[in-house]
Amino acid sequence: MTRLHVISAANRPTSSGRPLARWVADLAREHGAFEVTPVDLAEIALPFLDEPDFPANGGYAHQHTRDWSAIVDSADAFVFVLPMYNGGFTAPFKNAVDFLYAEWQGKPVGLVSYSAGGSGGAPAAEMLLPVLRQVGLVPAARSVAVPGIGGLIGAAGFEAPEGLAAEVSGVLDDIAALVKEPAAA
Ligand SMILES: Cc1cc2nc3c(=O)[nH]c(=O)nc-3n(C[C@H](O)[C@H](O)[C@H](O)COP(=O)(O)O)c2cc1C
Repeated sequence: MTRLHVISAANRPTSSGRPLARWVADLAREHGAFEVTPVDLAEIALPFLDEPDFPANGGYAHQHTRDWSAIVDSADAFVFVLPMYNGGFTAPFKNAVDFLYAEWQGKPVGLVSYSAGGSGGAPAAEMLLPVLRQVGLVPAARSVAVPGIGGLIGAAGFEAPEGLAAEVSGVLDDIAALVKEPAAA
């Protein structure tokens, strides 16, 4: 079974993305193709990249890098649940991507972005795509943008608007297909 890490890519302790990421992880479990591991970037608590050598050379000096490396290495594919700040992706998540290199190579990734406004963070996802390709990740054809995130968090967690589950399932299908037929990527 494909080992899918659903990464909540926000660092704020009150992140609205955390309940959304939990909901995405539940959907991925129901999908059937994946063994799902939720990952919370805030718990990983990486400093700004402080490795003396280039990540592409491996050979990490710091335990926090080795820990992050082991987490990413143990996945076959990813869903990144990412917020938009000031029209783009966030610094902590870009930093987390930059920390590693070989661990990302050739692995499919689906993007679920979110924002307070009407774009649902689609510009942040779009901005992230070339970065992901640069480290060898293989983005799914479809991605999902969730607008108005603040209004979708209730007492019981994320309250999905109608149709969102089908959209996210489409991304999960794309990831499953990429895992099966990497040459078609
Ligand atoms: C630094 C910062 C910048 C933001 N910039 C935007 C923005 O450009 N457009 C938007 O629609 N929402 C913006 N927001 C609102 C966020 O999309 C919204 O608060 C979301 O919940 C943030 O994700 P988080 O809760 O996981 O941190 C911004 C929020 C922060 C903290």
